Amino acid sequence: MYTTSKEMLLKAQQGGYAVGAFNAENMEMIRAIIAAAEELKAPVMIQTTPGTVRYASLETFAAIVKAEAEKVSVPVCLHLDHGESYEMAVKAIQVGYSSVMIDGSKLSLEENIELSKRVADVGRACGVPVEAELGRVGGKEDDTESKDSAYTDPQEAKRFVEETGVDSLAIGIGTAHGVYKVKPVLNTQRISEVKEVVDVPLVLHGSSGLSDEDVRDCVKRGMCKVNFATELRQEYLKATRKLLNEDDTVIDPKKIGKVAMEAVKKQVEYRMKVCGCDGKA
Ligand code: 13P
Ligand code: ZN
Repeated sequence: MYTTSKEMLLKAQQGGYAVGAFNAENMEMIRAIIAAAEELKAPVMIQTTPGTVRYASLETFAAIVKAEAEKVSVPVCLHLDHGESYEMAVKAIQVGYSSVMIDGSKLSLEENIELSKRVADVGRACGVPVEAELGRVGGKEDDTESKDSAYTDPQEAKRFVEETGVDSLAIGIGTAHGVYKVKPVLNTQRISEVKEVVDVPLVLHGSSGLSDEDVRDCVKRGMCKVNFATELRQEYLKATRKLLNEDDTVIDPKKIGKVAMEAVKKQVEYRMKVCGCDGKA
């Protein structure tokens, strides 16, 4: 069932669990993520970065996700991850994305508020929820890069949500996109502090490589959406490489797709259980 992120995130907030949001790069990843959700009876968000959108197109991802979502009973949402401009966010809404993020985290506070409000206004008029980011997630994800990560200031977050009217907020607590070379120093207390003064669901980015314990702590403190990208790519490539190394006679891409899907599905199911969203659909 194709739905927006509105209800699933509010339910997660009330229920004290998080919806897993998984980045997909192609049809195989989309099908693997949906299969995991259906198997565990979990609500799920599939998301594409601007780099992934450029690899194919917004229309293509919207068409694939809608077609696959209609085959299952669990709620499936398609979300634009780290939308980099007003135009891109609006285009995503126009072609049928059911949730969008506008990432103004590199801008000044005033500019971020102005941009996020403009997108939130369009989203509200179209019934499409909008996520914004305040503070910074370090590291690199496709074309999205930030040298440092900065903890979000709770009072700024309060003002930001009030003035923009966004539906959910990504905050910086010390995580980074990509592979961690050193163990990250998380300020999970900051999640509780932001939650005290902000009423919209909070979003955790850069979750690949975090321990189950850390993810659970973040969820317990108020993260309602947890994003995973790098881990899925790693599992996809590991399975693909293994097959090709073991059998150099493979000429059918479907055979590669099948092992990749199996590996991604397994990883998604594991992370869904850590987020506590299994059985919540
Ligand atoms: P990871 O690649 O670290 O899992 O981050 C995912 C993310 O934040 C997508 O927006
Ligand atoms: Zn992210």
